[in-house]
Amino acid sequence: MDRGREGIGDLYHQETKYQREAMPRGGLDWAHQPSPYKEVGDALKQFPIHPPEQKGGISLWEAIAKRRSIREFSGQPITFSELSQLIWATQGITSKAWGFEFRASPSAGALYPIETYLVVNQVKEIPFGLYHYNVKEAQIVLLKEGHFGSEICQAGLGQEMIAEASCVFVWTAMVQRSKWKYRERAFRYIYMDVGHIGQTLYLAATAMNLGCCTVGAFFDEEVDRVIGVDGKNEFSVYLGAVGRVR
Ligand SMILES: Cc1cc2nc3c(=O)[nH]c(=O)nc-3n(C[C@H](O)[C@H](O)[C@H](O)COP(=O)(O)O)c2cc1C
Repeated sequence: MDRGREGIGDLYHQETKYQREAMPRGGLDWAHQPSPYKEVGDALKQFPIHPPEQKGGISLWEAIAKRRSIREFSGQPITFSELSQLIWATQGITSKAWGFEFRASPSAGALYPIETYLVVNQVKEIPFGLYHYNVKEAQIVLLKEGHFGSEICQAGLGQEMIAEASCVFVWTAMVQRSKWKYRERAFRYIYMDVGHIGQTLYLAATAMNLGCCTVGAFFDEEVDRVIGVDGKNEFSVYLGAVGRVR
């Protein structure tokens, strides 16, 4: 193969292939495993998410058949119960076993590198603002009160649905959680993990008759700035806009 013509993506893919004769060696450094939970210290206010509905709704098959990317929202707010259900469906803890707290969406090695931030444009019962989801405590934590819809829309290449959505999920990766085990291969798994979360958001939104569109096209550093992450240890990987269908 002509290596000189390869881009960084090609090289990354080649260099991070598992090969029988060159598998990574050495055990895991259990003493330094990063925690899968981020706790934000300077919270203004916390809102425990509502207990999830685990029965009823449309069937999984109907949700798969009906799911579409929806980019036109009515401007009517969603409720905090609906938002709670979406958060639980994507990142809620659904079982505890063998010292792990397993979540609704799968994760390579159960390392859970993805964090959830929410830009709330209009959700009944909670103020506008930027929130972080505290997975362990099952609550959203208000980081900054105010209207960030326009900023996150600009950071998302000006895609208007981002400003018109009731809420925008912003998923970041805390890369060290995954690199601790998978080294450079971790980036592959991070993108797979967040893809699962995105699909779960789509299906859950569809089951609740809400519109959803995931977004991969954004100015990375601008999104990082809006949510207040450093872009290196933790960086934005994917967005999901949710609202009532127009
Ligand atoms: C990784 C990824 C990134 C995407 N980014 C955007 C985006 O930036 N803007 C957008 O309008 N749609 C985006 N989409 C939605 C796709 O355009 C959409 O899934 C595709 O057109 C198929 O339509 P469907 O989802 O209705 O089946 C993205 C979807 C995926 C999976």
